[in-house]
Amino acid sequence: MTATSPYRADLLSDTLTRPSNAMRDAMARAEVGDDVFGEDPTLRALEERVAGMLGHEAALFTPSGSMANQLGVRLHVKPGEELIGDSLAHVVRAELGAAAVLSGISSRTWVSERGRFRADDAASLMITGVRPYQVCTSLVIVENTHNFGGGTVQSLEEIRCAREVTRQRGVAMHLDGARLFNAHVASGVSISDYGREFDTVSICLSKGLGAPVGSVLVGSADAMAESRIWRKRFGGGMRQAGILAAAGLFALDHNVERLADDHARARRAAEAMAEAAPGAVDLATVETNIVIVDVAAVGWASAPFVDAALASGVRTYAVGPGAVRLVWHLDVDDAATDAAIDVLTGLLRAGPAT
Ligand SMILES: Cc1ncc(COP(=O)(O)O)c(C=O)c1O
Repeated sequence: MTATSPYRADLLSDTLTRPSNAMRDAMARAEVGDDVFGEDPTLRALEERVAGMLGHEAALFTPSGSMANQLGVRLHVKPGEELIGDSLAHVVRAELGAAAVLSGISSRTWVSERGRFRADDAASLMITGVRPYQVCTSLVIVENTHNFGGGTVQSLEEIRCAREVTRQRGVAMHLDGARLFNAHVASGVSISDYGREFDTVSICLSKGLGAPVGSVLVGSADAMAESRIWRKRFGGGMRQAGILAAAGLFALDHNVERLADDHARARRAAEAMAEAAPGAVDLATVETNIVIVDVAAVGWASAPFVDAALASGVRTYAVGPGAVRLVWHLDVDDAATDAAIDVLTGLLRAGPAT
C-alpha cells in the first residue's frame, strides 16, 4: 500500500505519517506475546534499545506521548505538589489538564521566547523547602524540540545548568522528547547526552520517526517498575503490542538520519517565503522541521490564510490569530515542498482579498 493524500502538501503535523510497506512487513513478521504478563519479545527488545540509547536503565512502551509524559509527572510529583515548565509546553497546554486530573497536582509556568529553555527561568520559579506554607516544586519539564515554539532545539548547556540547580534543591527533571531525534539530528548532540541529564525522558515513535503508534518512557529500573503499575491503572496495559514495537524498531533503524531531509525542506520553504514576503518568516527561528509563518506581518489573519492554502491543496495549522505552523515529515517530499512553496508564497505575496 502506498500512502495517498488528498492534499498536494499536508503540513498539518508530523503525526500524519502512514507506515510504509517495509514498516508494515516488519509489523506483520513481529514475534508477539502478552505484554501485561511481560511476555512480548519485540516490545522487550524495543524497551531495551531505547533505554540504552538514552543512557537509562529501563524503559516502558506507552500508547501515546501524553501518557508517557503523564507517567513521568505521576512518578515525580505527589498530589498537592507542583510541576513547572514554560507556558507553551505540551504538558501544560495540550494534555487537557491531565496532570491535575490524573495526579492531583498544580502547574506553574514561566514565559519563554519560542519555548527556549533557560535554567534561570526554572531556577527563579522553583519553590523548595518552605513547607507547609507554599506549594512545593517537585518537577521541571523541558521540551526538546519545542513544538509550539516552532521546533526549537534546546541548549545542552542550559539543561546542564538546570540539572545542577535541581540536584541541589531535590527537584526532578522530565524531558518531553517527543521530537528529541529532530534535536539530535539538528544539533549533533547525542541522544544519550540529552537523555542522561534527566530523571525521566519520553520519546515519540509516531511523530517524525513515522511509526503509527507509540512512545517510550525511560528512567531507572525502579521508576519504570512503578510506571508499569501506573500505566495499567491509566488503562495503558497492552497485550500483543509487539506489532507496534516492530514499527518502532523499524523507525529507529531507518527513519532517524533522514530527519535531516525534513529539516532541509523546511528551510528551503522558509527561505522562499522569507524572500517572497519579507517579515513573514524569521529564518533564525527555523531550526528543524517546523516553520512558523507570521502571516499577520503581510496583512493576513491566520484563519483565512489557512482556508486559502487549503483551497489550493496545502494543509496548514493556525497556531495563533496571526501565525501559521507548517510541519515537514516523511510524507512530504520535494515535489510536495515545491507545491507548498508555490501556493504559500503566492498567498503571502498577494495578501488577503479586500
Ligand atoms: C511536544 C509534544 N509532546 C507530547 C505530545 C503528545 O503526543 P501524543 O499525541 O502521542 O499524545 C505531542 C504531540 O503532538 C507533542 O508535540
